[in-house]
Amino acid sequence: MNKKTIRDVEWAGKRALVRVDFNVPQDEAGNVTDDTRIRAALPTIRYLLDHGANGVVLMSHLGRPKGKVDPKYSMRPVVERFFELLPEAQEVRKTEAITGPAAEAAAADLKPGIVLMLENTRFDPREEKNDPEMAAELARLGDVFVNDAFGAAHRANASTEGVAHFLPAVAGFLLEKELEFIGGALENPKHPFVTIIGGAKISDKIGVIENLLGKVDALLIGGGMANTFLLAEGKAVGDSLVEPDSLEVARDLIAKARAANVRLLLPVDALIADAFSADAQTRTVSVDAVPEGWRILDIGPETVKLYSDEIARAQLVIWNGPMGVFEMEPFAGGTRAIAQAMAEASERGATTIVGGGDSVAAVEQAGLAEKMSHVSTGGGASLELLEGKVLPGVAALQDK
Ligand code: 3PG
Repeated sequence: MNKKTIRDVEWAGKRALVRVDFNVPQDEAGNVTDDTRIRAALPTIRYLLDHGANGVVLMSHLGRPKGKVDPKYSMRPVVERFFELLPEAQEVRKTEAITGPAAEAAAADLKPGIVLMLENTRFDPREEKNDPEMAAELARLGDVFVNDAFGAAHRANASTEGVAHFLPAVAGFLLEKELEFIGGALENPKHPFVTIIGGAKISDKIGVIENLLGKVDALLIGGGMANTFLLAEGKAVGDSLVEPDSLEVARDLIAKARAANVRLLLPVDALIADAFSADAQTRTVSVDAVPEGWRILDIGPETVKLYSDEIARAQLVIWNGPMGVFEMEPFAGGTRAIAQAMAEASERGATTIVGGGDSVAAVEQAGLAEKMSHVSTGGGASLELLEGKVLPGVAALQDK
């Protein structure tokens, strides 16, 4: 990573303005149901407190309130959980303000050891427009801007990108770690390098596949998107989800993989169901024998074996996107088996990286997150990195 980090700043006497991604899932009552992203930001905040920063101001978005104040998306429950997780902070304060005199007064009142959380940055309509005035107002709340919001680094917003033009701007530890794992793996991959790409739609993953074709040894395809590839290969897929508009794209990707000497593997068998429902009748069939009226909802056991063998031989494995409709228990087996194969690969020393909201959720559900070399906190952001894009929230930081 060629960007300055919080290690490059002499913090004594300086107030840190830190963008975190505390966009966490909540239940109906507003309780935080998964605090992974909050925990992931703690090393940076601890470092700032330990190195004498003159207070830490935290900013984050939560949900998509579309520029309006909406109590449903208030940072309050998030701050409560944050405080429980960081008992060593002398005090955690919360302000209803985002910018302006109230926010400035709250920030000016900070002392070393005290953390202040601003209200949801997306309550201000200027945030997502990356409005320079809002960015300048935010910059008044600190002396140095720290971006630790990897999950939001693909958004050019006032609090992620704009503000970096008004203050010295450096990366936090989470942002650094994500870039080193995902960016580093892509720049200098160990071989054999295997990627597993799943999820519902090819159209969401074209950029990723195209970028990876020049780098990987094998590309294993699963999830709904595999159906369009199967159709492109002339298989009948019954009532399975397909994207007819992407058939040409699928053919083109297959040809490009062949030309690049990349083994692009498609499912050889599937778990099919007679309805899109957890109570549907199911069968395991070869992909050559999907009857009309049935749909593919997971990869089958032969495919699990084929893909697991590939993963078992790899030195680097990156996974993005589930293999089936893993939210429904009967169709979660393929996704879980991939998580298991990756955990085993980690144990024998391979680097294993999981990115993307659904595959991360699957790995967590399977209790295997701890076994992976890296589980990304970014959905869209990790996808854009895999596409080879530069993230605006990173580009705006100071070079080393
Ligand atoms: C995420 O959850 O992927 C990030 O927090 C970005 O959220 P957004 O997709 O609403 O911009």
